[in-house]
Amino acid sequence: MLVVALLHVLCVQAWADPASHWPWPAFKPLEGGSVFEYVALQDAQMHNGTFRSLLAAIKDPQAQAKYREIDAQWQAGQLAVPCVWSRRMGLVKLADGVLVYSPVELLPDVRSALQRLGGVTTIVLPNREHAIHWESWNRAWPNAHVILPQGIHLPSWANPLEVGPGAIPEAVKKILQDFSIEVIGQTGFPEVVLQHQSSGTLLTSDFVYFGSKDKKDMSGRPQVGACTDLYYDAFVRPGPSDVLLPTYRLGLSEVDKRNISQSLQRILAWGPRQILSAHAGRVSSGGKDEAAAILKGSWSWCETQVAEPTLLML
Ligand SMILES: *[C@@H]1O[C@H](CO)[C@@H](O)[C@H](O)[C@H]1NC(C)=O
Ligand SMILES: *[C@@H]1O[C@H](CO)[C@@H](O)[C@H](O)[C@H]1NC(C)=O
Repeated sequence: MLVVALLHVLCVQAWADPASHWPWPAFKPLEGGSVFEYVALQDAQMHNGTFRSLLAAIKDPQAQAKYREIDAQWQAGQLAVPCVWSRRMGLVKLADGVLVYSPVELLPDVRSALQRLGGVTTIVLPNREHAIHWESWNRAWPNAHVILPQGIHLPSWANPLEVGPGAIPEAVKKILQDFSIEVIGQTGFPEVVLQHQSSGTLLTSDFVYFGSKDKKDMSGRPQVGACTDLYYDAFVRPGPSDVLLPTYRLGLSEVDKRNISQSLQRILAWGPRQILSAHAGRVSSGGKDEAAAILKGSWSWCETQVAEPTLLML
């Protein structure tokens, strides 16, 4: 734990940017200035569960033995970082305060830094998995708008504003006037994807898993601490080599594939310049071309059996 805490402090130091007006150095500014990323490791307590669930997906006994050794090293205190997810939160400085996308645990330092900026005015919970920390944020900023997809049931005192595929209420459009909005209509797992217009930053959580169009680029891969390779062997290597997603994102109905490919086309038409994903190893850095290649590498496979909408109208 101490080692993890130290590592966290070192990361925070490395991100210090004296030129930035942002008051807390753990928020790293992206191209364009007003969007920041904040990357946080899960608590070390999550190691056992994460390790076991990843190991269960490995069939090869030799590979299993190799990864059991990593677990043994962690349990013996010989590793600096456990097997836990590294997650990225997006922060956007707006005229009246800050929008947070995919909030992680609200630490006291993060809270006071955001308070100094006028506080959080909008909390976007992009999907079910990335909504779990909503309550501490909502209690810290009870007047903030909480925007989330249909199907996540928050208590009414949280005043949630629901959005659905093709169903964005006018009130939400007004709150998110600096953004383009798309709700990905996957059955049971809708996701709110935003693009901050002036910086061209796409904000996503499970729609994108890679920060690079090149799967071999290790820095772009999903980061699971000491189990980053284990995760890759368990859920990425067994999948199609030209698809930038873990295998558990690939089992979709024809209806879902059609909805996702239509969302993909709309998002590509926005022409994002960089992609900030909660799961990717880093924010994409290759401009519009790489952002488009990452999006297509993630979802173009959904397009293969899509009927042309015009055919349906004949
Ligand atoms: C994790 O599992 C190890 C055995 O592999 C056990 O000794 C340890 O107490 C567990 N830790 C937690 C936090 O559950
Ligand atoms: C698919 O898209 C249509 C049209 O936008 C929408 O009405 C429907 O709810 C979507 N399906 C799912 C599962 O979200």
